[in-house]
Amino acid sequence: MTTQKATNITWHEHVVKREDLEKLHGHKGATIWFTGLSGSGKSTLANAVASKLHEMKVSTFVLDGDNIRHGLNKDLGFSAQERVENIRRIGEVAKLFSTAGVVNLTAFISPYKSDRNLARSLQADSFIEVYCEADLAVCEERDPKGMYKKARAGQIKNFTGIDDPYEVPESPELRVPTGSKPIDACVEQVIAYLKTRKVI
Ligand code: ADX
Repeated sequence: MTTQKATNITWHEHVVKREDLEKLHGHKGATIWFTGLSGSGKSTLANAVASKLHEMKVSTFVLDGDNIRHGLNKDLGFSAQERVENIRRIGEVAKLFSTAGVVNLTAFISPYKSDRNLARSLQADSFIEVYCEADLAVCEERDPKGMYKKARAGQIKNFTGIDDPYEVPESPELRVPTGSKPIDACVEQVIAYLKTRKVI
């Protein structure tokens, strides 16, 4: 748990409230938290869902692990402690987007259950965890960035699924078979769920 360091700070209530922003957007703010191994299809699915939602006039924003590590989180590597901080920050950013009435889609491996739960605890019912289910063998076969090959050769250490853990979600809101089903079917599954949850 990160402790509060700054003192003498005061919380200011928003004058334009979340409800006002959601009314303006015409839908709820929510975080769709995609988790899964590298190569499981998180970014592809998050972007495909965002694209479909955009067509439906929903305000979206994708927060992608690789991209965020080029900026906001460029000071973080892949040690356990740094992954914890990576996800803590993104949990906070996701919450801000939800408060702004935006459907935000995060694509991070987020390998530790406790970190995903922390991100969830910041938002209660506007947090939707989506497990991108793909066997390690499938991800390794796809190896879109050649990283599994490097990890197997010992050129990348602490690679998730090889020599670093991935804790499979026990009760995510959705399990999407990104390793075995076509992307369109996976997108439909997520969109249908957002409708049943009345996010859109
Ligand atoms: S997380 O574990 O902290 O959630 P994140 O999603 O931000 O990871 O970044 C994962 C991406 O970083 C992978 O898709 C891969 O491209 C790259 N990467 C580089 N080194 C590693 C590593 N040791 N383990 C996993 N992914 C890595």
